[in-house]
Amino acid sequence: MRIAVPAETEAQETRVAASPETVKKYIALGAQVTVQSGAGKSAGVTDGEYSAAGATIAANAKEALAEADLVLTVRRPSTAILSAIKRGAHVISIMDPYGQDAALNAMAAAGVNAFAMEFMPRITRAQVMDVLSSQANLAGYRAVIDGAGEYGRALPMMMTAAGTVPAARMFIMGVGVAGLQAIATARRLGAIVTATDVRPATKEQVESLGAKFIAVEDEEFKQAETSGGYAKEMSPEYKAKQAALVASHIAKQDIVITTALIPGRPAPKLITADMVHSMRAGSVIVDLAVERGGNCELAKPGETVITENGVHIVGHLNVPGRLAATASSLYAKNLLAFVETMIDKETKNLSPKWDDELVKATLLTKDGAIVHPNFLPKQ
Ligand code: NAI
Repeated sequence: MRIAVPAETEAQETRVAASPETVKKYIALGAQVTVQSGAGKSAGVTDGEYSAAGATIAANAKEALAEADLVLTVRRPSTAILSAIKRGAHVISIMDPYGQDAALNAMAAAGVNAFAMEFMPRITRAQVMDVLSSQANLAGYRAVIDGAGEYGRALPMMMTAAGTVPAARMFIMGVGVAGLQAIATARRLGAIVTATDVRPATKEQVESLGAKFIAVEDEEFKQAETSGGYAKEMSPEYKAKQAALVASHIAKQDIVITTALIPGRPAPKLITADMVHSMRAGSVIVDLAVERGGNCELAKPGETVITENGVHIVGHLNVPGRLAATASSLYAKNLLAFVETMIDKETKNLSPKWDDELVKATLLTKDGAIVHPNFLPKQ
């Protein structure tokens, strides 16, 4: 079994799909691992560290990928990478496949078995493989650090001889994995933290982290969670009531972190231009949903916008990639855990069990065709 780890090809991708630790484990499982030279550079891992872990270093992607049975990447492989992979090989990545028909067809045409890590079912057995959680947790942490960096004042209350510095007020919108970590981080930094979500289960979680919950708690709110634990799209009436509550609250905040997402839909717009204009000069909004359309009307992907009234709106792309070393080591472990389930203990070869629920949920293409039910050609 030969495993290849090519360098990521997208300019803004700083992460890498294997760590020296996971390379060692793959080798212990009977694999030969080839890493492309420089693949770990922006995540702080040198070729020397991979090689000390037992990997072979290849000069370029073509060399790394030749003969590989399994290719591990962070992002969906580019056409250049695909053309260097042999037919029948397995590719595991964060595939981001919605609206990417051409890319899906290209993977099918290349004859690779492509697995999308973000489709891993959120069941106990697969928790260790949950890339959405491992990366969102870091994004939530980093959003608070970025917000604090952009804010021109201190976060904790300080009583000094020169006067008292008030604690900053931080409001977290959306309390999934990223939002919970944002609350915990903001609390550690000494901010006064409030948070909101449309799922009633989050109220207790917010309070247990020492923050205050802000939401319109009517009948619709009490039913607003899917059986899968995700948010539902709320009615226009609920949205209007919640917006009014949020509008008066936001005007008093120093830093707002937004993380709200609804699976398969554009991010809900939670902060209007009017709300931004109600905030004080120097206050900060960090929009973690900016890649999915944004929670703030004025956020721009990849930019920090400073509005006329002096509000800084931060729209970083690939926020987990801003902690490339940590994000890579957790992602690499998510991959290792999944790959382990595919290795035949006797022969030490890769042999995915095609009827395993983890395989069925994540497999996009196989034997030259698209096989995932969400992407089958419409009849
Ligand atoms: P997500 O990334 O899909 O969404 C982030 C948050 O935005 C969610 O809490 C959602 O309720 C909230 N949101 C959506 N619309 C909103 C609106 N209009 N206003 C305010 N907030 C809004 O969520 P994530 O982080 O993927 O977590 C979703 C669920 O999955 C949670 O219940 C979480 O506890 C659960 N989960 C379960 C795991 C497991 O069992 N293995 C692992 C990780 C998460």
